Amino acid sequence: MSRDQDVDRLASLLANSARIVVLTGAGMSTESGIPDFRSEGGVWEDEDLLAAMSDGYLRRSPEDFWPKFKATFLNQRFLTAVPNRGHQALVQLEKMGKQVEVYTQNVDGLHQQSGSSRVMEIHGNARTAYCPRCHHEYDLDYVLEHPVPRCSWETQKGGVCDTILHPDTVLFGQAVRYLNECIDELGRTDLFLILGTSLTVDPVASLPMYKPRGCPLVIINLDETRFDSMADLRIHEKIGDVLPLAVSRL
Ligand code: APR
Repeated sequence: MSRDQDVDRLASLLANSARIVVLTGAGMSTESGIPDFRSEGGVWEDEDLLAAMSDGYLRRSPEDFWPKFKATFLNQRFLTAVPNRGHQALVQLEKMGKQVEVYTQNVDGLHQQSGSSRVMEIHGNARTAYCPRCHHEYDLDYVLEHPVPRCSWETQKGGVCDTILHPDTVLFGQAVRYLNECIDELGRTDLFLILGTSLTVDPVASLPMYKPRGCPLVIINLDETRFDSMADLRIHEKIGDVLPLAVSRL
């Protein structure tokens, strides 16, 4: 099909859907200037960095973990990124009265910033941190202020907790969030829309398996994914070039 035929088909699937479950990945934010992980020049080309972004490494080498984490997820490009046309198209669908449940693997907060009202952060968010011991939360300013942020909470004995903080991001080796909620929601949805993810990291990558029979699956991703053959519509184009156009035809 031509791009225009793809856009028409997408518009018709969106028009016939009152409830939409959206799964997004890093490809949702590349048009906001945030690199993805596995495309050419992606974040995980640095294999040392990939190995360092685990819960175990944070515990073993916090002095090395935190600078690497900040350089990757709290750099200027990340912190100054703004939502793009793809994010805004999802908000438009809500404004048309559709229920749009966004399950995102991204930790950049751009879906919330764009105005999406239902955003579940499967991998958490990079902008806050918490103390694994006393569970107090810390904001972005506090995290940026300290090279290796520690808990400053006063203990009952009058001292300071001083435990090294953990980012509010799900690291390798930790359980993802909202998986069951997403699977439940898939049982009630009219359309499963997957945007900008290579669908390579389980258990999230297996979510298309939970799509009920008869519920259309759309995948918009520059590269092919292992679930393309299952999709009712697969579009290997930029999200920003096709999703807003389809929404504008509703
Ligand atoms: N439009 C459509 N697709 C795009 C765009 C775009 N503008 N930009 C990139 N893509 C596609 C790429 O082709 C790629 O297949 O987005 C996909 C992004 O895949 P990954 O880089 O693997 O990112 P993601 O799928 O989100 O990774 C999942 O892996 O390492 C973990 O925690 C990390 O959340 C991440 C998870």
